[in-house]
Amino acid sequence: MSAKKLDQINDHLTANIDKYVKELGNAVGIKSVSGDPQYREETRRMVAEYGKNELERLGATVELRELGTEPGTNPPLQLPPVILAQLGNDPAKKTVCIYGHLDVQPAEKSDGWNTEPFVLTEIDGKMYGRGSTDDKGPVLAWFNVIEAYQKLNLDIPINIKFCFEGMEESGSVGLEELVMSEKDKFFKDVDFTCISDNYWLGQTTPCVTYGLRGISYFLVEVKCAKQDLHSGVHGGVVHEAMTDLCHIFNSLVSSDGSIKIDHMNDDVKPLTPEEEATYEPIDFDTEVYKQELGVTQLAHNSKAKVLQHRWRFPSLSIHGVEGAFYGAGAKTVIPHNVIGKFSIRLVPNMDPNKVLKLVQDYIAKVHAATGSPNTVSVTSIHGAPAWVGDFNDVNFTAGRNAVKRVFGREADLTREGGSIPITLTFEEATGKSVMLLPIGSSDDAAHSQNEKLNRSNFLNGMKVLAAYFEEIANLSKK
Ligand code: BES
Ligand code: MN
Ligand code: MN
Repeated sequence: MSAKKLDQINDHLTANIDKYVKELGNAVGIKSVSGDPQYREETRRMVAEYGKNELERLGATVELRELGTEPGTNPPLQLPPVILAQLGNDPAKKTVCIYGHLDVQPAEKSDGWNTEPFVLTEIDGKMYGRGSTDDKGPVLAWFNVIEAYQKLNLDIPINIKFCFEGMEESGSVGLEELVMSEKDKFFKDVDFTCISDNYWLGQTTPCVTYGLRGISYFLVEVKCAKQDLHSGVHGGVVHEAMTDLCHIFNSLVSSDGSIKIDHMNDDVKPLTPEEEATYEPIDFDTEVYKQELGVTQLAHNSKAKVLQHRWRFPSLSIHGVEGAFYGAGAKTVIPHNVIGKFSIRLVPNMDPNKVLKLVQDYIAKVHAATGSPNTVSVTSIHGAPAWVGDFNDVNFTAGRNAVKRVFGREADLTREGGSIPITLTFEEATGKSVMLLPIGSSDDAAHSQNEKLNRSNFLNGMKVLAAYFEEIANLSKK
C-alpha cells in the first residue's frame, strides 16, 4: 500500500523537477545574507514573506515570532522573525518537527564564482547558487514533498511542525530562548525532529547523521594608538597592534592542527575501542577527499583518523582580521586597532564557558610575555556545545529505511564537523530524538565559491524525505 503510494509520489516529483528547479531559482534570488546588515531587510523578507507564503500556500497555520533587535548592534538591527508553523493535528498521527534556515552566507561574483551567486545556474546537472545546498534546496525539498501529497490527493501520514529561521549563519541569535520558552507549548507534542542541513560524506553514498561539533567564535582586539600611523614615520618605536595579534595567532595552533592553548584538550572524551570500530564500515576515500579540496597532503593519514579529526576532536581555525589593510597595492600603514577572528570547534564534554576562560587566560599569558603595553581583549560570540544523538532511536530507523527505499542501499551513519547551534536545543525542548537527513553531496561547497546542489541529489533527496514521512507513520502502526 505505502509502496504504491511512494511510487506515485516519486513519479510526481520526477515529473515536476523542472518546476522545482525554477522555484529554487526564485529562492536563491533573494539575497538573504544574515551576516551583512545591508541585506537584513532581504533576510527578513525571505522569512516573513517567502517562507510564510509558501507554508500558507501548503495550508499550514503560520506564526511569525519576532525576536527584537540584534544585541550589540548600533544603530539597532532588527532580527528576522522565526517561523513556527503547523500542518495537521491528527492525534492518531506522529508529529515531526522540521527545522531549516532561510539565510545564507555572503557571496560576491568577485570572490571567484564562475556564475552570478544569486542567479541559480544549471550546468551539467549541477545547480550553482548561494544557498542551493545550504539550506534553501533542502527547505524547498520539504515544501515540494508536501505539495506532491496534496496534488495527488494523498493523506500526509504525519503532523508537521515547522521551525524556520533566518539567522543560522550568524549563530541563530535569539532562537534558543524562543525554542525553550515554547518547550511546553509549540514543541510539547513533538515526537521526532528531522533536520536536512548537512551533506553526504562522499558523492555516492547517502548518509544519516547523528552528531555535530559545537563552536565558540572569538574576537581578539588589540589597540596600539589613537589612529592609524605612517609606518615610515613611526615604525620601529611603537608596539604595533598587528605584530601583537600575529604573535597571538601564532601561539594558538600548530600547522598540523593541534591546539596549543593550555588544557584545551583536557575534557575531550577519550576514544573507546567501540567508537573506534564505528569508523571502519564508512564509505570514505581520503584520496577523493584530497581531490575535492585541492590539497596535496592532510594532517592525518588513515581514513579513521581523518574522520575523527573532522568529527570528534576539536579544531581551531583562524578566519581573518578586521581593521588591517587587505586591499591591492602597498599601503604603508600601522593599523591602530585590529580585531582578530578565530573559532574552535567543540566536541562532546567541552563546555563553551570553560573554553572561553581557557582562551582568555592563555592569550593574556602569551601577550604578557611580549612586554607589549598594548591592550588586548578577548570576547566570544556564538558558544554552542557539540551534539551527539542516539542512532538506535526509531527516528534513525525511519531515516535509514527511507534511504534504503530510494537508493536500494544502506545509509552510512555519519557525524559532522560543522555546527547547527539549535540542534541540541531541540533535543532538550522536546525530550525526543533529533536526526539529520542530508540531501547534498560532499562536493557541494557550502559557504564557498560555486556552491551547488546536484539536480539528482535534489530529486532523490525529495524522494527520501517522502519515504521518511511514510516510515515515521509505519512506526506508529507497529
Ligand atoms: N549547514 C551548516 C552546518 C553544517 C556544516 C553541518 C557542515 C554539517 C557540515 C550550517 O548552515 C552552518 O554553516 N553552520 C555554521 C554555524 C555557525 C555560524 C554558528 C557553521 O558550522 O559554521
Ligand atoms: Mn546550513
Ligand atoms: Mn551554513
